Amino acid sequence: MVDINKHYVGGEWIDGSGSRAFASENPATGETLSEFRRGTPADVDRAVEAAADAFGSWRERSRIDRAEYLWDVYHELRERTDELGEIVTRECGKEISEGRADVVEAAHMVEWAAGDARHPNGDVVPSEIAAKDAYMRRKPRGVVGCITPWNFPVAIPFWHMAVTLVEGNTVVFKPAEQTPLCAQIIAEMFEDAGLPDGVFNMIQGFGDAGEAIVEHDAVSTVLFTGSAEVGQRIQDTLGGVPGKRAACEMGGKNAVVVTEHADLDIAVHSAVMSSFKTTGQRCVSAERLIVHADVYEAFKERFIEIAESVAVGDPLDEETFMGPLIESEHRETVTAYNDLAREEGVTVLVDRTDLDDAAIPEGHEEGHWVGPFVYETDPDADLRCTSEEVFGPHVALLEYEGGIERAVEIQNDTDYGLAGAIISEDYRQINYYRDHAELGLAYGNLPCIGAEVQLPFGGVKKSGNGNPSAREIVETVTDRTAWTLNNATEIEMAQGLSADIETTDE
Ligand code: UN1
Repeated sequence: MVDINKHYVGGEWIDGSGSRAFASENPATGETLSEFRRGTPADVDRAVEAAADAFGSWRERSRIDRAEYLWDVYHELRERTDELGEIVTRECGKEISEGRADVVEAAHMVEWAAGDARHPNGDVVPSEIAAKDAYMRRKPRGVVGCITPWNFPVAIPFWHMAVTLVEGNTVVFKPAEQTPLCAQIIAEMFEDAGLPDGVFNMIQGFGDAGEAIVEHDAVSTVLFTGSAEVGQRIQDTLGGVPGKRAACEMGGKNAVVVTEHADLDIAVHSAVMSSFKTTGQRCVSAERLIVHADVYEAFKERFIEIAESVAVGDPLDEETFMGPLIESEHRETVTAYNDLAREEGVTVLVDRTDLDDAAIPEGHEEGHWVGPFVYETDPDADLRCTSEEVFGPHVALLEYEGGIERAVEIQNDTDYGLAGAIISEDYRQINYYRDHAELGLAYGNLPCIGAEVQLPFGGVKKSGNGNPSAREIVETVTDRTAWTLNNATEIEMAQGLSADIETTDE
């Protein structure tokens, strides 16, 4: 295994103890991009140890000093955006503008974290007692495990790690097994930036490596973005364990609501973006379109026309709207959900599950292609296809009658609560939706994708319990201390509590 990429532990590239390897493949062509060593729980142990050793001196530095390393990473992300964007596209199949946007979003998060280092940190808080100074201060939590998905292979690792490092924690990073090459480049960036040994560590591998991070006694905090199933397991494992913290960001069964007062141009545009960008493989993608009866036929006609013709193909081609799915197993899952929808009795409106051979670009026969699948059904039908997350271009049109209350009732009729949008020109409808839709990310007259790093990012209900973004992640990776100092020579207590010590001698 001489030429195979390694793990990064304690400032060194190591082979690790495992004998197995895995490959990164281009989902549009099947071509092997590079090979990687598959990390074992023993490798995770080594990485956690290195991170724990490095924590003592890393936490002693100033935040501004720690952030200096991230500015180096920021400039590299900016200078290499086009090159890295292309690697993102080659490795995860997102069309090229999305590949670049992934790198830009990473740069934004690093910029926010490094810039925040020079901002006030903590609060000065009043005390009842004039002689007391009270503060809220923050301390890093220690070793943080960062387990990240393949669909934002550069952005999400930096969502997790940028703030975490500035706040003084050390990191063990386990990237998705589908996108190890992007992770390799991230590790090289930290190495180039001269981050002290052990502050950042990476173990390449699969779920067993992730599990070893979650279960390791010396890992204080786990940040996870990925499937609801795995996130739930992590929460169950760590939920009752004293001192441990898990912030998990999971999927959705997201919806766009189009009311009778919608501007249909905005509605169709938003729905197409929400449902088909990234080939439906965003946790924020919309698989439900809830449309008022008054505009249903007009909306349906226009949406179908685009779903029939939207360009699926080579993601490196600027003219492509949808690249391939990530891997063949996922293609099977999406296909099975399309079949399930039929079995559940929906009316299929567009079915591009199997693209014509002619539609597949030359040299891309091995790609994991799938086009839009659009159907209509009764919002009250209680079907699996309208309740389970497919993570593909699988979209239900759900017609409703009545007021905005009814639309929001359908929107909320799901276990998930990540992202959603309302399309309406009526501010009362918009405000009702804003106040009652059970969502972490809600949009008006926009697609329900495209969150920005300086806002909290996360969901409610089954969609998550953390917000791995900007200021919100600070809460997860630090502990607060309420620190009170007495400037007087007498002790005076709050709440009028007596400070007199009575003794039996008196
Ligand atoms: C995800 O879908 O997994 O809001 C993350 C967005 C992006 C991040 C999505 N900024 O679409």
